[in-house]
Amino acid sequence: MREIKLSIFGFGNVGRAVVRVLLEKGALFRERYGVEFKVVSVADTSGVVWLPEGIDPREALIIKENFGKLSSWTNDYEVYNFTPSEAVREIDSDIVVDVTNDKNAHTWHLAALKDGKAVVTSNKPPLAFHYAELMKEAEGRNLPYFFEATVMAGTPIITVLQDGLKGDTVERIEAVLNATTTFILSRMEAGLDFEEALREAQALGIAERDPSGDILGIDAGYKATILHCLAFHPLTFDRVKRRGIEEITPEDVRRAQGRGNTIRLVAEIEDGAVTVEPREVPRTNPLAVESHENTAVIRTDLLGELVITGAGAGLKETASGVVGDIIKASMKLRES
Ligand code: HSE
Repeated sequence: MREIKLSIFGFGNVGRAVVRVLLEKGALFRERYGVEFKVVSVADTSGVVWLPEGIDPREALIIKENFGKLSSWTNDYEVYNFTPSEAVREIDSDIVVDVTNDKNAHTWHLAALKDGKAVVTSNKPPLAFHYAELMKEAEGRNLPYFFEATVMAGTPIITVLQDGLKGDTVERIEAVLNATTTFILSRMEAGLDFEEALREAQALGIAERDPSGDILGIDAGYKATILHCLAFHPLTFDRVKRRGIEEITPEDVRRAQGRGNTIRLVAEIEDGAVTVEPREVPRTNPLAVESHENTAVIRTDLLGELVITGAGAGLKETASGVVGDIIKASMKLRES
């Protein structure tokens, strides 16, 4: 049985969901993969909690809630105010797991790789801005750097583009990659105005408290950039031509409906060009997804059209991608 030490950065809803899956399915993973996962630390903006031997990581949930009254915990738990780069170096771990939204996380991803640690991330900006540098570092050191949950949550589009289609040439990808905008547009079709639909998305926990990244197409742009890097060659987010759904009116939605169409925030990815914009698509088109689903239509020279549809957001759905990557990284570390 090999023990794999995990250092988790980000302890919001996704981080907690990841820890929960690791605990609830720990016995199954031991049996299936011969690996015992041990969460050695959790960190968020309040600090790093280094979990001493024998402490159940679920306790970290309580510790985090109690960061404000930390003194009552300091006898039992060690709490440090490291910068993330210091933390990845100081903490003895095999895999650094990034479930933050830190836009500068590439600095500590690189620090982790340089220190011989694998990285698993659901955080998009490091890849959307620094894909080539991160891949070079990981490949040069033969270390896993996995990011399935950055696009379409746990729906394995990254794996398909990395490990499938080896003999194919991808010609184009069209995709709906953002769940928040799909939800808002669907609710507008049901008669709500933009603000009402957004409030409902927030109340249901689909949209973030600050939903601007989703609405302006930034989130979809990050994801489309990552797909471009995989399908074609590295490109950075500043090359994306982008328009969000902020100007879509109930009138636009009704007119599209009258034509048998639906408006979705569509990403079009071709060699050297990425566009994200609201487009009218026929109701029967695979891009006319509902609710929290995402879909990608990949066109290749040999296979023709491949459609991948699945969850694009959600806590256990995102944990599916992160935990899958943790397992894959462990297998790769075991081989080396
Ligand atoms: N905020 C994203 C969405 C989910 O609405 O699709 C995380 O990628």
